[in-house]
Amino acid sequence: MKRIFFYIAVFTGILFTSCRPEIYEFPVMPSVADSTLKTSPFPIGGALGMYDLKNNENYRILVANEFKSITAENAMKMGSISKGRGQYFWDDADYFVDFGVKNNLRVHGHTLIWYKQSATATPSWVLNFTGTKDDWKQLMKEYITAVMTRYKGKVKSWDVVNEAFKDDGTYRSTSEDIWAKNIGSPEYIYWAFQCAREADPDALLFYNDYGHEYSVAKRTAIANMVADMKAKNIPIDGIGMQMHTDIDRSVFVDIKNAIDAMVKTGLLIHISELEVYVNKANVAGAVFTDELAKKQATHYRMISKYMKDVPVAQRYGITTWGVYDNAKASPPEWPLLFDTQMKRKPAYYGVIEGYNMN
Ligand code: G3I
Repeated sequence: MKRIFFYIAVFTGILFTSCRPEIYEFPVMPSVADSTLKTSPFPIGGALGMYDLKNNENYRILVANEFKSITAENAMKMGSISKGRGQYFWDDADYFVDFGVKNNLRVHGHTLIWYKQSATATPSWVLNFTGTKDDWKQLMKEYITAVMTRYKGKVKSWDVVNEAFKDDGTYRSTSEDIWAKNIGSPEYIYWAFQCAREADPDALLFYNDYGHEYSVAKRTAIANMVADMKAKNIPIDGIGMQMHTDIDRSVFVDIKNAIDAMVKTGLLIHISELEVYVNKANVAGAVFTDELAKKQATHYRMISKYMKDVPVAQRYGITTWGVYDNAKASPPEWPLLFDTQMKRKPAYYGVIEGYNMN
């Protein structure tokens, strides 16, 4: 009799979940409760902010105990490091890299060249620079060489170029992208990778961008660029899929297809800036309910499983864009694996369940 009830319950469960395909109900596996992300078959990490890293001991402990890989949220961007031609501010980047090395964490460099005209992304002296195409190429080379030489042997991999494509799969326009304007696309991208390989031949070189999961045109353009680079012997080792996503995006279709498409390039795959938003509508008084936490955990679980499904030789891992939810976010948002108190969320357990799934 008990067995009949069991089958009815399972059948009802299947019916229920098949009506709501984006939610899988998994039991929390007993082993998971005592586990840490260090048990992952591929590196899992986070982007670190300098304020917490320098001032918050609990943060440092959490990062060192849970993560295998770290990225600097801002400290290694050109705008943070480059203060004028041949003038560098190394303090924060050094602090960040030393923290990683001392704690045996893989250090991923983000990002050498980025079109974005914000203070952290590209310094004003570069935005105001005038010169020939060769002068611009020389400027780029000097910067890449200085940074990569300093961190040789300590920074394992770099986002060499960030966000060079628009969502429609065309290169950013010359009015938007200072590198495209002065060197040209894709020439500036290829040049950056060549300079990077020369500066540190052992570093792994990534092209990093967002939107693979919602723009087929963009991910196709990225795959075509990779094929062109290979044909021309321009070095590239990996693709960074940023993945700032949300619970309304289909993880089973859009995100899976995006990962599958990028795997076909044969390069390393890094889900490099993962966030799963639950308040995409920016509702001012939104509340993080159990239902939202469960949906978010499903996304994290499946993304973790999909990374595990990537051929071992191509798995570079998952990095979340931040470590814990920001209590002061306005509108409120809870995109990460740890809550505002730095406690593990259902999303955290989702990741562990994901890489343990067959
Ligand atoms: O450091 C200054 C501080 O001195 C000043 O008081 C304050 C006033 O606004 O600004 C501070 O700098 C800000 C910095 O974040 C640190 O908080 C910059 O204005 C702001 O532009 C910068 O934003 C960063 C943004 O990239 C641009 O570099 C975000 O923190 C960072 O999360 C974001 O990260 C990007 C990735 O690099 C690439 N992919 C998208 C991703 C998310 O947008």
